[in-house]
Amino acid sequence: MNSSFVDNVRYFRLPTDGKAKVRFEKREGLCRRMASAVDSVCIWPVYAALLLLLWVTWFLIWISASALVISSIGKNLTLVRIPTSVADQVAAYCLDGSDPAYYFRRGKTKKWIIHFPSSELCFSLEQCMRQSDTVSGSTRTIVNSVAANGVLSPDSDLNPDFYDWNVVSLYGCDGGLYTGNEYAEAPSVFNEVYFRGFHILKCVLHWLLDRGLYDAEEVLVTGTGTGAQAVYLHLDFIKESLPFSTSVRGLADSGFIADILNRTNFPQIRTAMQHLYATHKSGKSLDDDCIKAKSPQGENWQCLLPDDSYKFISTPLFVVDSFYNSWSLWFVYNFRCYPNSCQKDIPDLTWYGEEINKRLQQVYQSKRNGAYVTSCFENDFILHNGTWNNPLINGTVLREAFYKWYQWVEEGPGETWTTIGCSSHYSCNPSCDWSPGHFLETTEKFRSQAEFFKAKQ
Ligand SMILES: *[C@@H]1O[C@H](CO)[C@@H](O)[C@H](O)[C@H]1NC(C)=O
Ligand SMILES: *[C@@H]1O[C@H](CO)[C@@H](O)[C@H](O)[C@H]1NC(C)=O
Ligand SMILES: *[C@@H]1O[C@H](CO)[C@@H](O)[C@H](O)[C@H]1NC(C)=O
Ligand SMILES: *[C@@H]1O[C@H](CO)[C@@H](O)[C@H](O)[C@H]1NC(C)=O
Repeated sequence: MNSSFVDNVRYFRLPTDGKAKVRFEKREGLCRRMASAVDSVCIWPVYAALLLLLWVTWFLIWISASALVISSIGKNLTLVRIPTSVADQVAAYCLDGSDPAYYFRRGKTKKWIIHFPSSELCFSLEQCMRQSDTVSGSTRTIVNSVAANGVLSPDSDLNPDFYDWNVVSLYGCDGGLYTGNEYAEAPSVFNEVYFRGFHILKCVLHWLLDRGLYDAEEVLVTGTGTGAQAVYLHLDFIKESLPFSTSVRGLADSGFIADILNRTNFPQIRTAMQHLYATHKSGKSLDDDCIKAKSPQGENWQCLLPDDSYKFISTPLFVVDSFYNSWSLWFVYNFRCYPNSCQKDIPDLTWYGEEINKRLQQVYQSKRNGAYVTSCFENDFILHNGTWNNPLINGTVLREAFYKWYQWVEEGPGETWTTIGCSSHYSCNPSCDWSPGHFLETTEKFRSQAEFFKAKQ
């Protein structure tokens, strides 16, 4: 950690001409200045008044906190904001400088789920600047509660193995897969944007350690979409941040991204990850061994890709995905027609499925890790009852396949923990919904979202 954040000293941005990197000035923190002010007013009525004020404030906070707890009884997770004083210690800020936050539900056990939801990424200073004005780059206006289904559900019928766990769902506002490691950059004098994702992760973990996570017996780190990518990148770091005796495992759903060209042979993912790496200064927060392996070729950015970083992960991990993952087909490969109405493109679609299957071989071969890979046009399998509880592959339910793997004690008896569907043709599995209605419903959602990455920004 940067020692300059210790001792109540913060850095303040100095004006620049808008082109150069921002410079910072050290100033004494507010508290130190307050202390000297208080020393000079040594009259007891002032102290009494202050005490009274403190007590009233505390009482008000207590009342509103109780109201929050009462209103959160139900299925939803409730918002918890990290106090500014805590965020300041490691400068853990969203893109716009606001404090990090997460959603939480208290469980009845000493077991925790830490979930990374999918969140929007940004790939350049300008784009991150724009994102900092939205809920994807700021916690200033986010909602007070979110629904929790699938593996996060508190319903013991739908989620019998995890319903009573403590659930933390992180809030992605860093735009950079929690790898950001730069203090701040400002494209103009009037704005600033922070690339502090990795420090958000550190800060929230430390905060949670003081609130029960330290005593956790088991921690399951889950993620969907770009959140699954964060699981691949940070699972080992989370394991190392917890007491040695805590059992830690990962569940990465729909984030197995590989360096595959899009349909006009443009290296879409490669360019996106190179930009992200450069913008967020991701290097220092990625796996050391991976960086060592990639730096001779100058390809450090590859450590952002699960396909490349997978082999460096040492914490047990379960991979969920689809050869025909709906999000990846739409945003990464740019396959955007209903297969039945563009028959001539089906060979491309089949090629893609087989290519993902090839990249996943390293996962299937692991004796420690597990996998559940379908051929369904879906993503975020673990967050929806319809995919979490459904026999999608040869009669095997995802929830059961995952829990069977989760329960093993030592390395399997030569058994591999993989449930793999067919990849020969997009419609090879009758349990997958490839109906026009399902396709339309899914793609309507994507259509309303911003492009994942545009080469020219
Ligand atoms: C739970 O969260 C969902 C989605 O954010 C919201 O629509 C719903 O009103 C919330 N329910 C309660 C009881 O807060
Ligand atoms: C959950 O999914 C299963 C399998 O698809 C289904 O049978 C069940 O009715 C669903 N339950 C709810 C409450 O959605
Ligand atoms: C069922 O499993 C077999 C053997 O692993 C595999 O060849 C087949 O493709 C699977 N079927 C489906 C629908 O995924
Ligand atoms: C591939 O990516 C480039 C750059 O983002 C984009 O211009 C092009 O349209 C993409 N190809 C397809 C088929 O969408």
